[in-house]
Amino acid sequence: MAAAPLVAFDNRAALARAAAETIAEAITAAIASRGEACIALSGGSTPEPTYTALTAMPLDWPKVTLALVDERFAPPSEEASNERMVTRAFASAIEAGAHFKPLYSATPTPVEAADHAEALYAPLHIDLAVMGMGTDAHTASWFPGVAAHALDLNTARTVVAVHAPSAAGTPHRLTLTRAAYNRAGQALLLITGADKRHRLETALSQPIEQAPVAALLAPGAPKLEIFWAP
Ligand code: 6PG
Repeated sequence: MAAAPLVAFDNRAALARAAAETIAEAITAAIASRGEACIALSGGSTPEPTYTALTAMPLDWPKVTLALVDERFAPPSEEASNERMVTRAFASAIEAGAHFKPLYSATPTPVEAADHAEALYAPLHIDLAVMGMGTDAHTASWFPGVAAHALDLNTARTVVAVHAPSAAGTPHRLTLTRAAYNRAGQALLLITGADKRHRLETALSQPIEQAPVAALLAPGAPKLEIFWAP
């Protein structure tokens, strides 16, 4: 598999600024070409400084849809919720008219929540997906060994539920499928620390089901930029 085009920054603040600029450029280009933009956002701890920097930018927010790459099956009242973190980071953009699309809904089961999210997410045209990565080589909620249905390129689904015992926050997850991810215009993977950089390098030669982050560089995946800082 081709080596990853990785851009190394001196520190995490520089990475956040550059990532925000890259996402802002994609939003501006999408609005210029089709009158609106949609970005899909990962949760976790890494991307929040990027989101905070982006939301401070003078973009045409009423034309921007903010979607999620994945979600924990937890209400936004809980700290584990990606919706909680994303709507907090993008509060001023949402106040300025940006449209947030949740993945979570208070259904009895994650599968029912995925079905509900499918109706919301299937029509989306994602211009840029912001991806993260765990040291176990997961990305989105495609966790090793438990996400074959999410990684299956033949699925008609945009959103599925995944049960991942090793996942942070909650084992019950909602995630874009790899097929939906591959329809995105472009992607940006944000990773920090030596461990993730090394794990990414080893993941690229492993089977995708065991190292799902490798799917981001597989044939048919959107153009990917990888930003790394110590
Ligand atoms: C999530 C994320 C997940 C994240 C990685 C990295 O819901 O946890 O969407 O895929 O990107 O777990 O998380 P950190 O940035 O916290 O290391």
